Amino acid sequence: MILKGKKGIITGALDANSIAWKVAQKAHAQGAKFVLTNAPVAMRMGEIKKLASETGSEIIPADATNIEELTNLFSKSQECLGGKIDFVLHSIGMSPNIRKNIPYTDLNYDYYAKSIDISAFSLHKMLSVAHKMDAISEWGSVVALSYIAAQRTYPFYTDMADAKATLESITRSFGYHYGRFRKVRINTISQSPTKTTAGGGIKGFDNFYRVADSISPLGNASAESCADFCVALFSDLTRMVTMQNLYHDGGYSNTGISMELMEMFDKGMEK
Ligand SMILES: NC(=O)c1ccc[n+]([C@@H]2O[C@H](COP(=O)([O-])OP(=O)(O)OC[C@H]3O[C@@H](n4cnc5c(N)ncnc54)[C@H](O)[C@@H]3O)[C@@H](O)[C@H]2O)c1
Repeated sequence: MILKGKKGIITGALDANSIAWKVAQKAHAQGAKFVLTNAPVAMRMGEIKKLASETGSEIIPADATNIEELTNLFSKSQECLGGKIDFVLHSIGMSPNIRKNIPYTDLNYDYYAKSIDISAFSLHKMLSVAHKMDAISEWGSVVALSYIAAQRTYPFYTDMADAKATLESITRSFGYHYGRFRKVRINTISQSPTKTTAGGGIKGFDNFYRVADSISPLGNASAESCADFCVALFSDLTRMVTMQNLYHDGGYSNTGISMELMEMFDKGMEK
């Protein structure tokens, strides 16, 4: 029960495959109380009500790019939960350019701006709203989800790479200010490819899922194990960890090439 007594906000649970869905289940199992939120449009398609009844949570819709809706989210969440927020999960990502299969060299700039607004500025907006309202408790913890394409080139990840690089930078910059203000810590988890709606929308996802799995000595990290890591970061056991991008990828990021991948290549060449 490492989250007993903690109050949180969990964004991004679209369906049972979502990383946020697993985080909600694990946080509930560890004694946390929280509010679930997603974009109003996603909730009409989504199954979030099932998760809310399973975890005894309220649902407060909010488009994470909209300051008014975020202000309402933080104020209603504090009312529902009876006090300041101890943890926030930012599990939000979307690129209209990827959805419409537009190559990186020919991006639509309106879509590009949308990708970055939804996937990165939304973290800044949430933090800025919370900071103004002084809505997060001392030693609170904010976790956002990232991908290694923020640091190295993955051509198929197109403008989401730029969004994730911005997300990681906001984590460091706001981590400084919120750390000084209320000792709130802010980190990103750089997660393995994971079979979800957002993940599956990326061209060639199945292949890069398999390549990453064969390179990582521990294999790809699952959504469940990512949720465990989120819970650990929300807990008081990680109080001095802040402004970090933490790889949660089975060792992928520190492996050049694996024997398994070389053997696969050998077999392919023989054919
Ligand atoms: N799946 C992967 O391979 C993978 C790998 C690394 C990081 N991530 C990141 O994990 C996070 C969660 O994605 P997921 O893989 O669980 O997929 P998902 O599709 O289940 O979750 C993405 C969520 O973002 C929400 N969202 C989109 N626009 C929004 C808006 N304007 N306001 C509020 N919410 C909005 C969607 O409704 C959805 O719930 C994302 O940041 C994603 O980039 C995913």
